[in-house]
Amino acid sequence: WRPDDEDDQQRRGASGPVRVRVPAKVNLHLGVGPLRRDGYHELNTVYHAISIHDEVTARRGDTLTLTMEGEGAGELALDDSNLVIRAAHALAAYAGVPPHARLHLRKQIPLAGGLAGGSADAAAALVACDALWGTGLSRDELAGIAAGLGSDVPFLIHGGTALGTGRGETVSPVLARPTSWYWVVAIADGGLSTPAAYRELDRLRDAGAAGPPLGSTDALLAALRQRDPRVLAAALGNDLQDAALAMRPSLAATLKAGDAAGALAGIVSGSGPTCVFLAADAVDAERIAAELEAAGVCREARTAHGPVAGARIG
Ligand code: C5P
Repeated sequence: WRPDDEDDQQRRGASGPVRVRVPAKVNLHLGVGPLRRDGYHELNTVYHAISIHDEVTARRGDTLTLTMEGEGAGELALDDSNLVIRAAHALAAYAGVPPHARLHLRKQIPLAGGLAGGSADAAAALVACDALWGTGLSRDELAGIAAGLGSDVPFLIHGGTALGTGRGETVSPVLARPTSWYWVVAIADGGLSTPAAYRELDRLRDAGAAGPPLGSTDALLAALRQRDPRVLAAALGNDLQDAALAMRPSLAATLKAGDAAGALAGIVSGSGPTCVFLAADAVDAERIAAELEAAGVCREARTAHGPVAGARIG
Protein backbone atom coordinates (compact mmCIF):
# COMPACT_ATOMS: atom_id res chain seq x y z
CA TRP A 1 0.00 0.00 0.00
CA ARG A 2 1.34 3.39 -0.97
CA PRO A 3 -0.45 6.56 0.05
CA ASP A 4 -1.04 8.81 -2.94
CA ASP A 5 0.25 12.36 -2.77
CA GLU A 6 -3.02 13.88 -1.67
CA ASP A 7 -3.53 11.49 1.25
CA ASP A 8 0.04 12.08 2.26
CA GLN A 9 -0.37 15.83 2.17
CA GLN A 10 -3.59 15.63 4.17
CA ARG A 11 -1.85 13.56 6.83
CA ARG A 12 1.09 15.86 7.27
CA GLY A 13 -0.13 19.19 5.96
CA ALA A 14 1.71 21.17 3.30
CA SER A 15 5.34 22.08 3.87
CA GLY A 16 5.52 24.78 1.24
CA PRO A 17 3.39 27.91 0.92
CA VAL A 18 -0.33 27.43 0.18
CA ARG A 19 -1.81 30.17 -2.00
CA VAL A 20 -5.60 30.62 -2.14
CA ARG A 21 -7.49 32.95 -4.47
CA VAL A 22 -10.95 34.13 -3.44
CA PRO A 23 -13.45 36.25 -5.39
CA ALA A 24 -15.56 39.28 -4.51
CA LYS A 25 -19.34 38.90 -4.43
CA VAL A 26 -22.24 40.96 -5.66
CA ASN A 27 -25.89 40.36 -4.77
CA LEU A 28 -28.02 40.07 -7.91
CA HIS A 29 -31.06 40.16 -5.64
CA LEU A 30 -30.82 41.35 -2.05
CA GLY A 31 -34.19 41.04 -0.37
CA VAL A 32 -34.03 42.24 3.23
CA GLY A 33 -36.76 41.03 5.58
CA PRO A 34 -37.53 42.16 9.10
CA LEU A 35 -34.97 42.69 11.85
CA ARG A 36 -34.66 39.50 13.93
CA ARG A 37 -34.23 39.28 17.67
CA ASP A 38 -30.54 38.39 17.21
CA GLY A 39 -29.84 41.73 15.47
CA TYR A 40 -29.66 40.27 11.95
CA HIS A 41 -32.16 40.66 9.14
CA GLU A 42 -33.79 37.73 7.43
CA LEU A 43 -32.42 37.65 3.87
CA ASN A 44 -33.53 36.31 0.55
CA THR A 45 -30.54 36.85 -1.66
CA VAL A 46 -28.82 35.62 -4.81
CA TYR A 47 -25.06 35.78 -4.44
CA HIS A 48 -22.79 35.92 -7.49
CA ALA A 49 -18.98 35.60 -7.37
CA ILE A 50 -17.08 37.91 -9.76
CA SER A 51 -13.51 37.97 -11.06
CA ILE A 52 -11.97 40.47 -8.66
CA HIS A 53 -9.76 38.44 -6.35
CA ASP A 54 -7.93 38.62 -3.06
CA GLU A 55 -5.21 36.11 -2.28
CA VAL A 56 -4.13 34.58 1.03
CA THR A 57 -0.79 32.76 1.25
CA ALA A 58 -0.17 30.53 4.26
CA ARG A 59 3.30 29.41 5.33
CA ARG A 60 4.47 27.39 8.30
CA GLY A 61 5.38 29.50 11.35
CA ASP A 62 5.83 29.29 15.12
CA THR A 63 3.01 31.74 15.90
CA LEU A 64 0.10 33.26 13.98
CA THR A 65 1.03 36.41 12.05
CA LEU A 66 -0.59 38.42 9.26
CA THR A 67 0.93 40.83 6.77
CA MET A 68 -0.78 42.47 3.82
CA GLU A 69 -0.37 44.50 0.63
CA GLY A 70 -2.71 46.14 -1.86
CA GLU A 71 -6.17 47.71 -1.34
CA GLY A 72 -6.49 49.14 2.14
CA ALA A 73 -2.92 48.36 3.27
CA GLY A 74 -2.19 50.62 6.22
CA GLU A 75 -5.92 51.06 6.98
CA LEU A 76 -6.86 47.48 7.85
CA ALA A 77 -6.03 46.27 11.38
CA LEU A 78 -3.87 43.12 11.26
CA ASP A 79 -4.55 42.07 14.87
CA ASP A 80 -7.04 39.63 16.38
CA SER A 81 -9.94 41.75 15.10
CA ASN A 82 -8.98 40.87 11.52
CA LEU A 83 -11.27 38.25 9.97
CA VAL A 84 -8.26 36.35 8.55
CA ILE A 85 -6.82 35.88 12.04
CA ARG A 86 -10.26 35.03 13.45
CA ALA A 87 -10.74 32.43 10.69
CA ALA A 88 -7.39 30.77 11.47
CA HIS A 89 -8.25 30.63 15.20
CA ALA A 90 -11.72 29.22 14.47
CA LEU A 91 -10.35 26.43 12.25
CA ALA A 92 -7.55 25.58 14.70
CA ALA A 93 -10.05 25.35 17.59
CA TYR A 94 -12.43 23.18 15.54
CA ALA A 95 -9.69 20.83 14.34
CA GLY A 96 -7.71 20.78 17.61
CA VAL A 97 -4.42 21.98 16.10
CA PRO A 98 -2.17 24.86 17.17
CA PRO A 99 -3.01 28.07 15.24
CA HIS A 100 0.46 28.56 13.85
CA ALA A 101 0.95 30.09 10.42
CA ARG A 102 2.47 33.05 8.65
CA LEU A 103 -0.36 34.50 6.59
CA HIS A 104 0.00 37.09 3.84
CA LEU A 105 -2.97 38.86 2.27
CA ARG A 106 -2.87 40.49 -1.20
CA LYS A 107 -5.98 42.61 -1.58
CA GLN A 108 -7.66 43.85 -4.71
CA ILE A 109 -11.19 43.91 -3.26
CA PRO A 110 -11.85 47.33 -1.70
CA LEU A 111 -12.50 47.61 2.05
CA ALA A 112 -16.08 48.22 3.23
CA GLY A 113 -17.20 48.34 -0.39
CA GLY A 114 -20.22 46.04 -0.33
CA LEU A 115 -18.22 43.34 -2.18
CA ALA A 116 -17.64 41.15 0.92
CA GLY A 117 -13.87 41.65 0.83
CA GLY A 118 -13.36 40.88 4.52
CA SER A 119 -15.59 37.81 4.29
CA ALA A 120 -13.67 36.66 1.21
CA ASP A 121 -10.38 36.90 3.10
CA ALA A 122 -11.81 34.82 5.95
CA ALA A 123 -12.96 32.15 3.48
CA ALA A 124 -9.51 32.11 1.85
CA ALA A 125 -7.80 31.81 5.24
CA LEU A 126 -9.95 28.78 6.13
CA VAL A 127 -9.09 26.99 2.88
CA ALA A 128 -5.39 27.93 3.09
CA CYS A 129 -4.94 26.88 6.74
CA ASP A 130 -6.88 23.66 6.17
CA ALA A 131 -4.33 22.70 3.49
CA LEU A 132 -1.32 23.98 5.46
CA TRP A 133 -2.28 22.11 8.60
CA GLY A 134 -3.53 19.01 6.80
CA THR A 135 -6.84 19.16 8.66
CA GLY A 136 -8.60 17.94 5.50
CA LEU A 137 -12.09 19.31 6.18
CA SER A 138 -14.83 19.07 3.57
CA ARG A 139 -16.13 22.23 1.92
CA ASP A 140 -19.36 21.85 3.92
CA GLU A 141 -17.44 21.61 7.21
CA LEU A 142 -15.44 24.71 6.26
CA ALA A 143 -18.70 26.49 5.38
CA GLY A 144 -20.03 25.58 8.83
CA ILE A 145 -17.05 27.29 10.51
CA ALA A 146 -17.41 30.14 8.01
CA ALA A 147 -20.98 30.86 9.16
CA GLY A 148 -19.65 31.72 12.63
CA LEU A 149 -17.32 34.31 11.11
CA GLY A 150 -19.85 36.26 9.04
CA SER A 151 -23.04 35.91 7.03
CA ASP A 152 -21.31 36.07 3.62
CA VAL A 153 -18.35 33.80 4.42
CA PRO A 154 -20.01 30.43 3.57
CA PHE A 155 -20.91 31.68 0.08
CA LEU A 156 -17.28 32.65 -0.57
CA ILE A 157 -16.17 29.10 0.23
CA HIS A 158 -18.54 27.84 -2.49
CA GLY A 159 -18.57 30.67 -5.10
CA GLY A 160 -20.55 30.54 -8.34
CA THR A 161 -24.12 31.81 -8.14
CA ALA A 162 -26.11 30.74 -5.09
CA LEU A 163 -29.24 31.38 -3.13
CA GLY A 164 -28.66 32.74 0.38
CA THR A 165 -31.28 32.51 3.13
CA GLY A 166 -31.38 32.89 6.91
CA ARG A 167 -29.05 35.80 7.64
CA GLY A 168 -27.28 34.89 4.37
CA GLU A 169 -25.25 32.00 5.80
CA THR A 170 -27.45 29.21 4.41
CA VAL A 171 -26.27 28.77 0.84
CA SER A 172 -27.54 26.54 -1.95
CA PRO A 173 -26.10 26.63 -5.46
CA VAL A 174 -28.18 27.91 -8.34
CA LEU A 175 -27.95 25.39 -11.13
CA ALA A 176 -27.93 27.21 -14.43
CA ARG A 177 -26.51 26.45 -17.84
CA PRO A 178 -22.99 27.88 -18.03
CA THR A 179 -23.20 31.54 -18.98
CA SER A 180 -20.81 34.37 -18.27
CA TRP A 181 -22.15 37.77 -17.29
CA TYR A 182 -20.06 40.90 -17.82
CA TRP A 183 -19.92 43.56 -15.13
CA VAL A 184 -18.46 46.97 -14.51
CA VAL A 185 -17.58 47.59 -10.91
CA ALA A 186 -17.46 51.29 -9.93
CA ILE A 187 -15.42 51.64 -6.75
CA ALA A 188 -16.12 54.72 -4.64
CA ASP A 189 -13.78 56.75 -2.46
CA GLY A 190 -14.16 55.49 1.10
CA GLY A 191 -16.39 52.71 2.40
CA LEU A 192 -19.81 52.37 3.99
CA SER A 193 -20.55 50.49 7.20
CA THR A 194 -22.75 47.44 6.65
CA PRO A 195 -24.50 47.63 10.07
CA ALA A 196 -25.13 51.35 9.44
CA ALA A 197 -26.73 50.58 6.05
CA TYR A 198 -29.08 48.01 7.64
CA ARG A 199 -29.95 50.50 10.41
CA GLU A 200 -30.67 53.17 7.80
CA LEU A 201 -32.98 50.79 5.93
CA ASP A 202 -34.88 50.07 9.19
CA ARG A 203 -35.15 53.83 9.78
CA LEU A 204 -36.44 54.47 6.24
CA ARG A 205 -38.95 51.63 6.60
CA ASP A 206 -40.18 52.91 9.99
CA ALA A 207 -40.61 56.35 8.42
CA GLY A 208 -42.50 54.86 5.46
CA ALA A 209 -39.79 56.25 3.19
CA ALA A 210 -38.39 52.96 1.80
CA GLY A 211 -39.60 51.31 -1.39
CA PRO A 212 -41.60 48.07 -1.20
CA PRO A 213 -39.46 45.06 -0.22
CA LEU A 214 -38.23 42.93 -3.12
CA GLY A 215 -39.52 39.67 -1.69
CA SER A 216 -39.03 36.41 -3.56
CA THR A 217 -36.02 35.57 -5.74
CA ASP A 218 -38.18 33.72 -8.31
CA ALA A 219 -37.99 36.36 -11.06
CA LEU A 220 -34.23 36.67 -10.69
CA LEU A 221 -33.73 32.89 -10.82
CA ALA A 222 -35.93 32.64 -13.91
CA ALA A 223 -33.96 35.46 -15.55
CA LEU A 224 -30.65 33.67 -14.88
CA ARG A 225 -31.96 30.64 -16.77
CA GLN A 226 -32.73 32.70 -19.86
CA ARG A 227 -29.08 33.67 -20.48
CA ASP A 228 -30.10 37.06 -21.91
CA PRO A 229 -28.39 39.99 -20.16
CA ARG A 230 -31.35 42.26 -20.96
CA VAL A 231 -33.68 39.91 -19.10
CA LEU A 232 -31.27 39.65 -16.17
CA ALA A 233 -30.90 43.45 -16.12
CA ALA A 234 -34.63 43.88 -15.54
CA ALA A 235 -34.59 41.46 -12.60
CA LEU A 236 -31.67 42.91 -10.56
CA GLY A 237 -32.64 44.48 -7.24
CA ASN A 238 -31.29 45.50 -3.85
CA ASP A 239 -33.38 46.49 -0.82
CA LEU A 240 -30.31 48.16 0.73
CA GLN A 241 -29.91 50.52 -2.22
CA ASP A 242 -32.17 53.27 -0.81
CA ALA A 243 -30.22 53.15 2.45
CA ALA A 244 -26.87 53.38 0.66
CA LEU A 245 -28.15 56.30 -1.45
CA ALA A 246 -29.42 58.09 1.67
CA MET A 247 -26.00 57.68 3.30
CA ARG A 248 -24.03 58.53 0.14
CA PRO A 249 -26.18 60.73 -2.14
CA SER A 250 -23.37 60.98 -4.72
CA LEU A 251 -24.08 57.37 -5.73
CA ALA A 252 -27.13 58.60 -7.63
CA ALA A 253 -24.75 60.33 -10.07
CA THR A 254 -22.71 57.13 -10.42
CA LEU A 255 -25.81 55.09 -11.26
CA LYS A 256 -26.98 57.77 -13.69
CA ALA A 257 -23.61 57.87 -15.45
CA GLY A 258 -23.68 54.10 -15.93
CA ASP A 259 -27.13 54.35 -17.46
CA ALA A 260 -25.94 57.14 -19.76
CA ALA A 261 -22.94 55.00 -20.78
CA GLY A 262 -25.28 52.25 -21.97
CA ALA A 263 -25.18 49.79 -19.06
CA LEU A 264 -28.16 47.43 -19.17
CA ALA A 265 -28.72 48.03 -15.45
CA GLY A 266 -26.89 49.41 -12.44
CA ILE A 267 -27.33 48.65 -8.76
CA VAL A 268 -25.55 49.32 -5.51
CA SER A 269 -23.59 46.21 -4.50
CA GLY A 270 -24.66 44.87 -1.09
CA SER A 271 -24.48 47.69 1.44
CA GLY A 272 -22.44 49.84 -0.98
CA PRO A 273 -20.86 52.15 -1.86
CA THR A 274 -19.61 50.09 -4.84
CA CYS A 275 -22.02 50.20 -7.80
CA VAL A 276 -22.15 47.36 -10.33
CA PHE A 277 -23.39 47.61 -13.88
CA LEU A 278 -24.42 44.78 -16.17
CA ALA A 279 -22.97 45.06 -19.69
CA ALA A 280 -24.13 43.31 -22.85
CA ASP A 281 -20.67 41.76 -23.39
CA ALA A 282 -16.98 42.10 -22.48
CA VAL A 283 -16.31 44.82 -25.08
CA ASP A 284 -19.23 46.89 -23.84
CA ALA A 285 -18.03 46.48 -20.27
CA GLU A 286 -14.63 48.00 -21.17
CA ARG A 287 -16.29 50.94 -22.87
CA ILE A 288 -18.66 51.60 -19.94
CA ALA A 289 -15.78 51.39 -17.45
CA ALA A 290 -13.81 53.96 -19.45
CA GLU A 291 -16.83 56.29 -19.61
CA LEU A 292 -17.47 56.02 -15.87
CA GLU A 293 -13.86 56.90 -15.10
CA ALA A 294 -13.95 59.81 -17.57
CA ALA A 295 -17.16 61.09 -15.94
CA GLY A 296 -15.35 61.25 -12.58
CA VAL A 297 -18.17 59.48 -10.72
CA CYS A 298 -15.99 56.85 -9.02
CA ARG A 299 -12.45 56.34 -7.78
CA GLU A 300 -11.91 53.51 -10.24
CA ALA A 301 -14.01 51.39 -12.61
CA ARG A 302 -12.97 47.76 -13.21
CA THR A 303 -14.45 45.14 -15.48
CA ALA A 304 -15.24 41.66 -14.17
CA HIS A 305 -17.10 38.53 -15.19
CA GLY A 306 -19.06 35.99 -13.23
CA PRO A 307 -19.79 33.49 -11.98
CA VAL A 308 -16.35 32.33 -10.82
CA ALA A 309 -15.27 29.69 -8.29
CA GLY A 310 -15.05 30.38 -4.54
CA ALA A 311 -11.90 30.15 -2.42
CA ARG A 312 -9.51 27.75 -4.22
CA ILE A 313 -5.88 26.73 -3.95
CA GLY A 314 -3.69 27.82 -6.87
O1 C5P B 1 -22.61 38.69 9.37
P1 C5P B 1 -21.78 39.90 9.34
O2 C5P B 1 -20.84 39.99 10.51
O3 C5P B 1 -21.05 40.10 8.05
O4 C5P B 1 -22.78 41.11 9.46
C1 C5P B 1 -22.34 42.43 9.74
C2 C5P B 1 -23.51 43.27 10.24
O5 C5P B 1 -24.45 43.48 9.17
C3 C5P B 1 -24.33 42.63 11.34
O6 C5P B 1 -23.78 42.89 12.60
C4 C5P B 1 -25.68 43.29 11.16
O7 C5P B 1 -25.67 44.59 11.70
C5 C5P B 1 -25.77 43.45 9.65
N1 C5P B 1 -26.50 42.32 9.04
C6 C5P B 1 -27.87 42.24 9.19
N2 C5P B 1 -28.55 41.18 8.63
C7 C5P B 1 -27.90 40.24 7.92
C8 C5P B 1 -26.50 40.32 7.73
C9 C5P B 1 -25.83 41.38 8.31
O8 C5P B 1 -28.49 43.09 9.84
N3 C5P B 1 -28.59 39.25 7.38
